[in-house]
Amino acid sequence: MSKQGKMDCGRRRLIVATAAVGGVGAVAALVPFVSSLLPSERAKAAGAPVEVDISKLEPGQMMTVEWRGKPVWIINRTKDMLETLTKLNDAVADPKSEKQQQPAYAQNETRSIKPEMMVVVGICTHLGCSPSSKFKAGVDEGMPGDWLGGFLCPCHGSTFDFAGRVYKSKPAPTNLEVPPHVYLSDTRIVIGEDKKGA
Ligand code: FES
Repeated sequence: MSKQGKMDCGRRRLIVATAAVGGVGAVAALVPFVSSLLPSERAKAAGAPVEVDISKLEPGQMMTVEWRGKPVWIINRTKDMLETLTKLNDAVADPKSEKQQQPAYAQNETRSIKPEMMVVVGICTHLGCSPSSKFKAGVDEGMPGDWLGGFLCPCHGSTFDFAGRVYKSKPAPTNLEVPPHVYLSDTRIVIGEDKKGA
């Protein structure tokens, strides 16, 4: 387990715990902070769509943006990464994402609008930890020898492939969530809405 993984996990647990037990007092305490933000920041904190420039995202790279207080991963998948998806259809719990509602444009083999570009919420569907990237196949990143690359949630060991599909017999009940998103152009995505102006 990486140190970063531990920190992410702890932070997410804290957020989950706060959300679970937070009552009126917790909400009231947040108001002055939100009110002190600029209008654009206030809109963002409230869940406004986020426009992202992906022009510098090279094949094999991942970037993280924040939307509604959640990390959203955008990954430019290589051909090799995409090839692992077909190989893993029998190893993942819900290969076609039938258990969990996904945007219609993600109901396909790659769970994405464009095959190479994955957009997914980086929060484990078990108890809300933030999984760590383990992109290298094999044992280099402390994974089993037959590992093909993907993500490991350090909290309780759920593993996900390059489409955010959870492996069988893991604590996470469903695949990672694909958020609503739309392409404005080849290099710009809006996270949080399905079509321009929606
Ligand atoms: S929170 Fe991810 S495995 Fe438990």
